[in-house]
Amino acid sequence: MAKIAVIYYSAYGHTFDLAKAIEKGAKEAGAETRLRKVRELVPEETIKSNKGLSYGSGLQKDLQEAALEDLLWADGIAFGTPTRFGNTTAQLRNFLDQTGPLWAKGALAGKVASFFTSASTPHGGHETTILTLSTFAYHHGMLIMPMGYTISGSVDPYGPTYVSGDGSKPVGEEEKRLAYEFGKGLAKVAQRLAGK
Ligand SMILES: Cc1cc2nc3c(=O)[nH]c(=O)nc-3n(C[C@H](O)[C@H](O)[C@H](O)COP(=O)(O)O)c2cc1C
Repeated sequence: MAKIAVIYYSAYGHTFDLAKAIEKGAKEAGAETRLRKVRELVPEETIKSNKGLSYGSGLQKDLQEAALEDLLWADGIAFGTPTRFGNTTAQLRNFLDQTGPLWAKGALAGKVASFFTSASTPHGGHETTILTLSTFAYHHGMLIMPMGYTISGSVDPYGPTYVSGDGSKPVGEEEKRLAYEFGKGLAKVAQRLAGK
């Protein structure tokens, strides 16, 4: 059985929806899974005074925070972040920046890495976010698994994505289906590579 960790940040809940769909797919394919949010860096008082942030934070209040041990445990990892000016959020970056000791030991080499993201506009940075985030995996010697056009209906070769618009709509069924199928594929590839 492959071990799949889905490690993400989400302020308003859209990336969280993708994360849940990926985890569900991985589980369905027989993997043992861990769904983990990274530590929030926005001050508590800022979250409390913002309706969208309080809503997003409330949705995820029962989730466990990601630890470096989750990376060591996993055979395959899906990393998710909303776009921030076409790039990764500070929250996910902060978590990844703590992986120096793992890098020094080559502890993540050969594990499967994949990426997903959410941005408010169609050309607002899905691709740049995933591609710039992926350099992390190159430095660790991980094996990058993109989505390609391998899943029927896929329009995002880099990984599952969502266009959140004004943020008022939940993630659609089609985007969730693609994320779910991607999670299934990630579990199968990770299992094969781990020789399980
Ligand atoms: C500081 C900041 C920068 C952002 N930059 C972009 C951007 O460059 N392009 C874009 O399309 N959306 C941008 N957004 C919107 C978020 O990426 C978008 O709302 C995302 O879907 C939120 O995901 P979440 O619900 O998981 O937090 C930005 C939002 C914030 C707060």
